[in-house]
Amino acid sequence: MSAERTFSIIKPDAVAAGQAGQILAMIQEAGFKILAMRMTRLTEAQAREFYGVHSARPFFGGLVKFMTEGPIVVMALERENAIKGLREVMGATNPANAAEGTVRKRFAADIERNCIHGSDAPETAGQELRFFFSGADLL
Ligand code: CMP
Repeated sequence: MSAERTFSIIKPDAVAAGQAGQILAMIQEAGFKILAMRMTRLTEAQAREFYGVHSARPFFGGLVKFMTEGPIVVMALERENAIKGLREVMGATNPANAAEGTVRKRFAADIERNCIHGSDAPETAGQELRFFFSGADLL
């Protein structure tokens, strides 16, 4: 099996609550290598573009507001089966449905303020990695 890459965001709720370190530890304990990482803030335009696939959804405005309310931590991660594996570490989108021991079960408040994002497929992982990182970051 070969290593796969995925993209993740520790969202503003978790950064503000001081949970970024614990979430990073959970990711690393699950065997992920951190290829690149930085703390940043999304502008409204960036948030609208990043979540463009959801632009027709009723929650889009709230999602953009939430994602721009404070700093986030963006990461490029590598592991075998990284995309599926990270989604297992994160737990279900709605923390009410998330399994015990997952990031969202431990830390998330609700379906919107859900602490962490992870790419859902190889194509989106590539797009999302390129959105935040240059090729040189990912060597
Ligand atoms: P994420 O995995 O980053 O992908 C899209 C985000 O939209 C999701 O996490 C949640 O933060 C948010 N989201 C998804 N579904 C809903 C919903 N029904 N209501 C509010 N926010 C949602």
